[in-house]
Amino acid sequence: MNPAAQLNSTAAPGAPAASAPAAPAEPLGPKEGGALFATACTSCHTSGFIEGSRIPVKAWTAEVTKMRKWGALVDEEQVAPFAAWLALKFPIAEDAPKAPRMSAKAALATVKRHPAGGPPGDPKHGKEVYAQSCASCHGASALGAGGGPSLVENPALGQEARFALLIQKGKGRMPGYDDLKSNDIASLLAYLQGISGVH
Ligand code: HEC
Ligand code: HEC
Repeated sequence: MNPAAQLNSTAAPGAPAASAPAAPAEPLGPKEGGALFATACTSCHTSGFIEGSRIPVKAWTAEVTKMRKWGALVDEEQVAPFAAWLALKFPIAEDAPKAPRMSAKAALATVKRHPAGGPPGDPKHGKEVYAQSCASCHGASALGAGGGPSLVENPALGQEARFALLIQKGKGRMPGYDDLKSNDIASLLAYLQGISGVH
């Protein structure tokens, strides 16, 4: 049975009235709301992503309507009570929890660097190799294009051994480059770290 339909049939009449704002619909009960949230919303993004949105019930209604178009399993008649539940659950008055975010600099600082400061590669040479071998898929400024992800601040830049292996062997739709010498690879890394502002 469709979990959304099941939830709908057993939906409790409402949540504690005391804390409920003047909502256009009775919010789903805490259990029903929570279960629907888990089945209908967290399949595509994390709950933390949604929790960060502190918006009024009208905006939640629009959001849930939009998410239904993306495929969220919410029945039409559940939209209003679920929007009311979301507004109740993630109150605007409360600051959204800060999502833990690690900057590329902090991430790179946790892995061992060359003590002399910067890898041995030559960024100028790396730029040439990049233009020749990588730009077609990762974009002229490495921001991603033609099927490859952005390489600016890419986590792989902090892992020299993995980076080298990746370039030699390839990964998924990315071909391997067994003709590139270790100096070429170090230079590529130096170039990409340079444009990421990491040294
Ligand atoms: C099938 C995948 C999918 C499901 C399920 C889904 N979403 Fe989304 N959600 C998306 C996509 C894709 C975007 C980005 C939309 C865009 O860029 O226009 C998004 C964006 C959002 C945003 C950011 C604002 C915006 O509109 O871009 C919020 C908030 C959100 N979703 C909440 C929810 C809630 C609440 C649910 C549960 C009802 C849900 N989502 C279920 C795919 C999904
Ligand atoms: C034919 C297209 C193509 C070319 C050319 C290409 N890449 Fe990629 N690259 C990809 C794709 C696609 C991915 C994502 C692979 C995956 O995750 O399955 C990727 C991923 C990467 C990653 C991230 C890998 C990870 O595990 O996070 C790095 C770094 C990278 N490429 C560097 C390079 C460099 C440097 C070159 C040039 C020597 C290059 N790529 C050439 C398509 C390409």
